[in-house]
Amino acid sequence: TIYIGAFVHSKSLQDLEICQKGAIGVGENGTIAFVERNVINPEALREREGWESAKTVRVGENGFFFPGFIDTHIHASQYPNAGIFGKSTLLDWLNTYTFPLESSLSSLTRAKQVYTRVVSRTLSHGTTTAAYYATVHVDSTNLLADICLSKGQRAFVGRVCMNTLSPDYYRDASVADGIRDSQACIDYIQRIDPSAELVAPIITPRFAPSCSAECLRALGALHRETGVRCQTHISENKPEIALVKELFPDSKSYADVYDAAGLLTPKMILAHAVHLTAEEVALIKARGAKISHCPASNTALTSGCAKVRELIENGITVGLGTDVSGGFSPSVLEMARQAIWVSRFVAMNDGDQAKLSTEEVLYLATRGGAKVVGLEDKVGGFEVGMDWDAQMIGLGAVPESGESNLEADDPVDIFGWESWDDRVAKWVYNGSDKSTVAVWVKGRLVHQTSRYER
Ligand code: GUN
Ligand code: FE
Repeated sequence: TIYIGAFVHSKSLQDLEICQKGAIGVGENGTIAFVERNVINPEALREREGWESAKTVRVGENGFFFPGFIDTHIHASQYPNAGIFGKSTLLDWLNTYTFPLESSLSSLTRAKQVYTRVVSRTLSHGTTTAAYYATVHVDSTNLLADICLSKGQRAFVGRVCMNTLSPDYYRDASVADGIRDSQACIDYIQRIDPSAELVAPIITPRFAPSCSAECLRALGALHRETGVRCQTHISENKPEIALVKELFPDSKSYADVYDAAGLLTPKMILAHAVHLTAEEVALIKARGAKISHCPASNTALTSGCAKVRELIENGITVGLGTDVSGGFSPSVLEMARQAIWVSRFVAMNDGDQAKLSTEEVLYLATRGGAKVVGLEDKVGGFEVGMDWDAQMIGLGAVPESGESNLEADDPVDIFGWESWDDRVAKWVYNGSDKSTVAVWVKGRLVHQTSRYER
């Protein structure tokens, strides 16, 4: 298939490449075979050997191809609660809203209802890769992996480990049980996708307060033995940090709790990282662990404003996470917008250098996220040899009457004087799933709207 028309992707943190006359050839295997940047006559592309009978997909005048988004932190199991958090903060939010919901997904019927919806919905928002938390339940977690595989979403699927300080109705009975169940999920997920083309397991200690030192050490050993990636939460809110200090009095810091267990490695995704000390930032950098910035959640649960500029300047790899349902939205585009907002609140105290630009948040949403999940050679941009994980963006044409319809919400170019930079900015600030016309993962069409091929 040859994808013809404008494409946009990040070259670096600050540089977004906007190519108006593009063509990207994608082979049968779903990988990008060529990228052309100045196509005068699209028909001539078929003269390439082997491409004579290629199918073509054209993006309209008011649109462009963009790499699929990478959600580096999302609780699939919490999707029914998106938007429900009241005025709670982390620790009471967990007990009030989260544990009762997660525990109810012991029912496979309920798990299926939730997981089919969350995978479809995130795909519709252009999320082609997600790092998911499921629940403690083995069968439900495995079902999430099945659903990702059948719907064609690239995913890391984690069975949540929590053996202490959790409600009796929702926890691992013992460290040994938790390890056995985690191993069972790893085995299952590796069996259904042996080459990890699409889905892979991820070791998931919920966070230090709900895992004993013994549990964390055992998961660290499992990580070392299997090489499977890891994800957890760190330094999200102040009472949580105080609790960690109380529970692990001999540890130098929150980050040190994970480090002592062998969990702080280049394959670890740490969500939130709102209140890290300079020593913790240095330790995380030294160990090569990655950070998922979850701006919507951090604001919703009033956890704080993560200082993303500082993290980046300290050489830490950062991506974006929706953190549904601490975060209220399954959209990574919304997170890009929220990341810009949070950086402006930081800037009001710390100065203008803290502000993130549209180019920077789009980088975090794609290339940054790809690095966080360790797939930077495969996804996040349009390079020869990478997989075609992409979305077709269609910008809006607001009807004069203002009646609502299926077109996107951004009031694009009424006077015909906007630059492509303006268009991209309008998409970032006003776009929605209505702007996402179609989505591909590894060359497979995994989502389309009625605007596709119209
Ligand atoms: N810390 C421990 N569990 C959770 C969770 O489910 N969501 C968030 N945001 N933080 C957590
Ligand atoms: Fe979370």
